[in-house]
Amino acid sequence: MHYPRILLALAALSLASPVVAEDFQGSTHALKYDDPPIEYSKQTPQDRIAKLQAQIVSGEVKLKWDDEYGWLPALLDELKIPKSSQMLVFSQTSLQRREINPRNPRAIFYNDDVYVGYIPHAPMMEISAVDPKLGGIFYSLDQVPQDKPSFTRNQDCIQCHVSPRSLGIPGHFVRSLRTDGGGEIIAGTDTSEVTHCTPLADRWGGWYVTGQSGAQTHLGNLVGLSAFDRHSGDPSYRGNVPDLREIIDTSKYLTPHSDIVALMVLEHQVHMHNYITRLNYETRTMTETYGHIRYLKNQVNAFLRYLLFTEETPLSGPVSGDPQYVADFTAPGPRDSKGRSLRDLDLQTRTFKYPCSFLIYSEAFDQIPMVMRDHLLQRLYDILTGKDEDPEFSKITANDRQAVLEILRETKPNLPAYWQPLAAKQ
Ligand code: HEC
Repeated sequence: MHYPRILLALAALSLASPVVAEDFQGSTHALKYDDPPIEYSKQTPQDRIAKLQAQIVSGEVKLKWDDEYGWLPALLDELKIPKSSQMLVFSQTSLQRREINPRNPRAIFYNDDVYVGYIPHAPMMEISAVDPKLGGIFYSLDQVPQDKPSFTRNQDCIQCHVSPRSLGIPGHFVRSLRTDGGGEIIAGTDTSEVTHCTPLADRWGGWYVTGQSGAQTHLGNLVGLSAFDRHSGDPSYRGNVPDLREIIDTSKYLTPHSDIVALMVLEHQVHMHNYITRLNYETRTMTETYGHIRYLKNQVNAFLRYLLFTEETPLSGPVSGDPQYVADFTAPGPRDSKGRSLRDLDLQTRTFKYPCSFLIYSEAFDQIPMVMRDHLLQRLYDILTGKDEDPEFSKITANDRQAVLEILRETKPNLPAYWQPLAAKQ
């Protein structure tokens, strides 16, 4: 029997697609981010770097130059980005790709709203901040001593930082691919975008990874195709590396780590940021075009599934990294009266202890237009209380629902009154 060629092509495509349903129900095409109502490039950003720039200009903040690392240490201190979040990537994925190689990887540091890219001895640092309304805003900072360093909003970054990988909005992503011995990408070896749904075995090609993942293998620390070959025969090759002292000159970096737990949190976080921005853009576009958000049902479901980790890839054993990172990441809380926080890490069967993203506390979440935020909070409440029986959320256990509901009630300001238990209302 002969099948029309188009059907065969479609069948092949669906076989090749990842197990997880398409991210935003297929709507990962680039949104017209420079048209009204978004006007990404025209708007004045209100992100953390824009604010820091104003403080530097006014003299309120002075950054201290460091002869070895340039602006890096002062910038991390000022932005309260932990040094322990350091992760090293040696695939040549940057505007300064030629500066990057397996002996001189790029370091990335981050907190909830800023990402900092630093390559030893490169002419500039690459920084991106999450603007609560606009999404990722990209800056370069020249690595030269001066009285008032200046962050330049750099539109060249968008050529890579708006793509289906970033859900079609200016945002962030993590790749996993094979490189040659010099860090050059080998085309066609990509594992789509890496999120908390990606199996560990497919993560971290092109990255260094320190920490323990037991028998769970990954593609980190593999430099050059011969290393990948050796890895196919012995998947534990180059896994469970405590630090990078025997692999690179770690004195060029702030720590000898490229922490496995920092990487796992990053992979959850960058994609959550993209979802928040995409939903913000879609809501503004829909309300302007149709005056309602009813067509966004699929996007809302996809968003809530990611927020609640329903498709997270489970861990088959414990993962551990630098305890300093765990301490730094969990410190900000907030915590409920039982001491629980959405930032608490599990690292036994999953990344976080409670399956609801800590980015629900972010300004970007709160800046999702009210009509959508109200709708999200209603859906979330209905899912957590079991009223919403949509099978997409049925995997969340009763205990997890109860814990997340209780934590949010006590720690998320300005929840609608119906969130509070009846007793409290009297
Ligand atoms: C050639 C494509 C490319 C260009 C151009 C580019 N980037 Fe990136 N950038 C990437 C990739 C890919 C990653 C993800 C890291 C990885 O997996 O290799 C990334 C990651 C980052 C990160 C870490 C956060 C994240 O998204 O994972 C920052 C910060 C960053 N880039 C800033 C910038 C800035 C600022 C510019 C412009 C000055 C820029 N980038 C230009 C490809 C690019």
